[in-house]
Amino acid sequence: MEKPKPTIKHERDAIVKVTLASICSSDLHIKHGSVLKAVEGITVGHEMVGIVEEVGSAVTHVKPGDRVTVNVETFCGECFFCKKGFVNNCTDKNGGWALGCRIDGGQAEYVRVPFADRGLNKIPDTVTDRRALLVGDVLATGYWAAKISEITEEDTVLIIGAGPTGICTLLCAMLKNPKRIIVCEKDESRIKFVNEHYPHVLTVTPAECLAFVRANSDHGGADVALEVAGAGTDEVGGMNTFELAWQCARPNAIVTVVALYEKPQTLPLPDMYGKNLTFKTGGVDGCDCETTLDLIAQGKLNTEPLITHTYPLSRIAEAYDLFENKRDGVIKVAVEC
Ligand SMILES: NC(=O)c1ccc[n+]([C@@H]2O[C@H](COP(=O)([O-])OP(=O)(O)OC[C@H]3O[C@@H](n4cnc5c(N)ncnc54)[C@H](O)[C@@H]3O)[C@@H](O)[C@H]2O)c1
Ligand SMILES: [Zn+2]
Ligand SMILES: [Zn+2]
Repeated sequence: MEKPKPTIKHERDAIVKVTLASICSSDLHIKHGSVLKAVEGITVGHEMVGIVEEVGSAVTHVKPGDRVTVNVETFCGECFFCKKGFVNNCTDKNGGWALGCRIDGGQAEYVRVPFADRGLNKIPDTVTDRRALLVGDVLATGYWAAKISEITEEDTVLIIGAGPTGICTLLCAMLKNPKRIIVCEKDESRIKFVNEHYPHVLTVTPAECLAFVRANSDHGGADVALEVAGAGTDEVGGMNTFELAWQCARPNAIVTVVALYEKPQTLPLPDMYGKNLTFKTGGVDGCDCETTLDLIAQGKLNTEPLITHTYPLSRIAEAYDLFENKRDGVIKVAVEC
């Protein structure tokens, strides 16, 4: 579909020439109509890297020619929530997840980025576009999830779901050096991926998960459980991963719910009485991209193996088809724009 090249609308905007974009499961949610805030006819895409083409008069942090990552969230940096780092709840009308949802996104040749000083981060020279591609969205989510989960070196950490977001969560949990990490995944090819790339991580299927976690943790369950699968009560014949997460957690554990569900989930308080769990939930506060880019430059984070397929923009429909139907062991698709 042809749209005119975007132009600067505000002094804090930048126009970025997209070089590489990716497809996210949230793009599929928009396609299926389950993202209520999404504007009809919007250009989707909120995970990309590119080159700054033009900046508004108030932009000082980046300049034309800079190679940058684009953050999934736009945020003003000045409101109550932004100042606390809770950028997902930025109170500006363009704040939060706007790109590729409420304003045109990056599965295109050019994208207009509001609050460019906040949402764009310069990619270090030693980091390739492919290594930086996931910084703005799924890696930001994994980093945020590991951060709020208060992981310590004594912990057994359970991650349910080894999709792109689950694996990014795994990579960021690994930065905290916990004693053990267990990944629960139902898809055989994704279990294989984890075993091949991160051999010290224990893997288990959902049916065996509860017994396995109890047998492989020091205090009767996971010290931290992260739910990144999103198979809720609506999943026909499957296991409810929200329930699995809190059941696998030991008393006084932290349960972090990264997953988004299409339907409400049940929190059966009588059943968990006395377990004294702490639940953390939410949309990613994606404001640590500079840190994750540094970690990539230092070789401490590497998401490139997750990019299993690459397509030109002209064949994006095929890329969607592959990604949506999880064919050919796909984890992430890069789209050359
Ligand atoms: N909180 C946020 O800001 C945020 C950001 C990004 C993604 N998400 C959410 O995180 C979740 C994961 O995203 P993704 O992109 O990795 O999607 P995905 O669908 O690729 O990953 C989900 C994984 O969970 C696995 N799974 C399904 N049922 C399971 C079960 N019963 N037991 C174990 N594994 C099971 C699937 O096989 C798949 O590998 C989604 O719900 C997504 O919407 C949230
Ligand atoms: Zn996304
Ligand atoms: Zn704000």
